[in-house]
Amino acid sequence: MRKPAILITGANGEMGHGLIKGLARNKNIDVLALDLEPLSKSMKAYVLDTINGDILDKKLLEILNTEYEFREIYHLAALLSTRAEFSPLTAHDVNVNGTINLLNLAIKQAQSQGRKVKFFFPSSIAVYGINSFKEKMKIGSISETEYLSPITMYGCNKLYCEQLGTYFSNNYQQLSANFKPGLLDFRSIRFPGLISAITTPAGGTSDFIPEMLHNAVRGNSYNSFVNKCTKIPFMTMPDGIEAILKLMDTPREHLTQSVYHISAFAPTTGEFKSKIESYFPNIKIGYKINEKRQSIVNSWPSDVDDSKAKNDWNWKPNYKFQNAMEDYLIPGLKEFYKN
Ligand SMILES: NC(=O)c1ccc[n+]([C@@H]2O[C@H](COP(=O)([O-])OP(=O)(O)OC[C@H]3O[C@@H](n4cnc5c(N)ncnc54)[C@H](O)[C@@H]3O)[C@@H](O)[C@H]2O)c1
Repeated sequence: MRKPAILITGANGEMGHGLIKGLARNKNIDVLALDLEPLSKSMKAYVLDTINGDILDKKLLEILNTEYEFREIYHLAALLSTRAEFSPLTAHDVNVNGTINLLNLAIKQAQSQGRKVKFFFPSSIAVYGINSFKEKMKIGSISETEYLSPITMYGCNKLYCEQLGTYFSNNYQQLSANFKPGLLDFRSIRFPGLISAITTPAGGTSDFIPEMLHNAVRGNSYNSFVNKCTKIPFMTMPDGIEAILKLMDTPREHLTQSVYHISAFAPTTGEFKSKIESYFPNIKIGYKINEKRQSIVNSWPSDVDDSKAKNDWNWKPNYKFQNAMEDYLIPGLKEFYKN
């Protein structure tokens, strides 16, 4: 008999760790953790089993298909934006072909179980591409359907995978003779920059704020790779995890779309710097602009209009700028680096 489980790919990443704990708290079903890297020892108590493996390994996914009955799949494994720009073809392979492999697994699971399989895909504000900084600041918050012209490989990959997920849930199900509508339930969130107090930044282009914070708490000076006027939305990792759990628990009939963006706070880099300096007055924070990364961040919106998420599934962040710093990031990072 196949073992019922929830599958998380990219389980050993920043988001994976938070999500594993969140699922263990909220759900009464075992988690199978898949990642290229071994799962950290501290996380092992929360999962049924761990698999060290590659999402591009179709044979491995076929074995998982025969051994487990997945009710939900959280497909987090990806090459993040900075690495994706260095190795765009590898990024395409992992981010797109890896996602197709996982969607295919979800479809096979739904067919063999004869019931719905929910699929979560973490997308990003990198799907947006605004022409200039001037225009970005003029337009302010944007909706989910505007400015979908990404300028990075990572953004292209994310946007296409959102569309693949929607295609397999809606169009393929209508067009395919032997696949019943409703069997694949694809849901996605376009996350802003996520800031965690318990893991180190992993190579995203929004890492200038997480890096600034982590360095300040460790007593190191830091040069931001984008300028002081730079403005994109951010959110704490706990709010990001809560958002995933909330979206996945919302009855499908309440959702008016499959892909939502959300935001919590959006200060400029200069405002973040001043706030961090108020906690660590002796730390030197400066700017050493990387033009390429600056142009990428300039193409992302200064904020997003998340009224659809608020209306459809009651999205609301617990942390805004002030309490994120005061109650989560500063104390959390001090604890993280205390030894
Ligand atoms: N962190 C953010 O700010 C942010 C923002 C928006 C979206 N996201 C998305 O959320 C997801 C998780 O991000 P994260 O911050 O945890 O990233 P991360 O880099 O910390 O984790 C990604 C994990 O995927 C694993 N992985 C990479 N290639 C793999 C492969 N071929 N097979 C199996 N595992 C593989 C890595 O080993 C790593 O543990 C990603 O899809 C990312 O694009 C993150």
